Amino acid sequence: MKALILAGGSGTRLKPITHTIPKQLLPVANKPILFYVLDQIREAGITDIGIIISPETGPYIREAVGDGLRWDSRVTYVPQSDPLGLAHAVKTAQDFLADSPFLMFLGDNLIEGGVKSFVQEFDNQSPDALLLLKEVPDPRLFGVAELNGKGEVMHLVEKPKEPKTNLALVGVYLFAPEIHRAIAQIKPSWRGELEITDAIQKLLEMGKEVRSHILTGWWLDTGKKDDLLEANRVVLDGLLKRDVRGEVDSESKVVGRVEIREGAKVENSTVRGPVSIAEGCQVRNSFIGPFTSIGASTTVEDSSVGHSVILENSRIYRIERLEDSLIGTGVELRKADERFKAVKLFVGCDSSLEL
Ligand code: TTP
Repeated sequence: MKALILAGGSGTRLKPITHTIPKQLLPVANKPILFYVLDQIREAGITDIGIIISPETGPYIREAVGDGLRWDSRVTYVPQSDPLGLAHAVKTAQDFLADSPFLMFLGDNLIEGGVKSFVQEFDNQSPDALLLLKEVPDPRLFGVAELNGKGEVMHLVEKPKEPKTNLALVGVYLFAPEIHRAIAQIKPSWRGELEITDAIQKLLEMGKEVRSHILTGWWLDTGKKDDLLEANRVVLDGLLKRDVRGEVDSESKVVGRVEIREGAKVENSTVRGPVSIAEGCQVRNSFIGPFTSIGASTTVEDSSVGHSVILENSRIYRIERLEDSLIGTGVELRKADERFKAVKLFVGCDSSLEL
């Protein structure tokens, strides 16, 4: 069994931050999303991993993941010249995948509890495809599956106007090599992409067995700013344990599940968990929390930050209430005008804002 992680794409919905950072490397609870994906693939026992990369962001992904040794795995990079769809990505990786069955994982998706049981189910039942599904409140935004009583997929529809079920396709799939023959027969959709839903629908038309597994835990697709903040909230809430290794002075209060990594310093401040403060941060005369992650070597001074993700090497100074915000690396934020009290910001890297 191999794994294919899709970490190309254009990340348009997360611009401006994706001008400088691939969205798969954006941090959730101070760890890149892609690293959760790699952890879960490794945990499922797969060590031969291909990663689809784009010309623009591929070098960053290569630098962060390297040859995969950290996961005790072998990583092969597969450059995709243009983001021409999920099925196009599989087609591009055909040499790497050869005739192996594979787990396909979208590099910007997070799921609760990992994929081990899902991989075992595929191994035991050997269908041509096994799809991970999740009940969602508004299925019109997703690829939607219709099942028969035995959990076999009968039909797939991409973003239906009148969905027949509320079962959305999650960004994790298992395929037998038959999928390559299905992809060879499909045409680009109206948006010019080779769609994986069309390829799976083709498998069904070829009389192949497509099974499903309904996920009960959370599924997070981090495609937009608010999705990323939600992922940060859910992961901090569910996975973070109290672990204070940095320095906290006697004037400060650290309440609840708070991670303060080595070399971070908290002075005369309150940190209300769940919160993650990375290595080398300086927090002075401030309030942090809840549901907030502060990246390495960032300084927060005379400010209050909640429900936000701040990346590394930034400086937040005299901001009375920064909330629901995503702030890139190397950003300088300072208040110059007393009228600004609460602010919600989405700021790309290396910006400087005087509010
Ligand atoms: P999407 O979020 O659907 O696409 P995108 O990254 O282009 O984002 P946007 O719509 O905001 O421009 O992609 C899901 C995942 O699959 C993501 O990790 C990027 C990856 N991907 C590829 O590797 N190749 C592709 O051709 C496409 C479309 C996506």
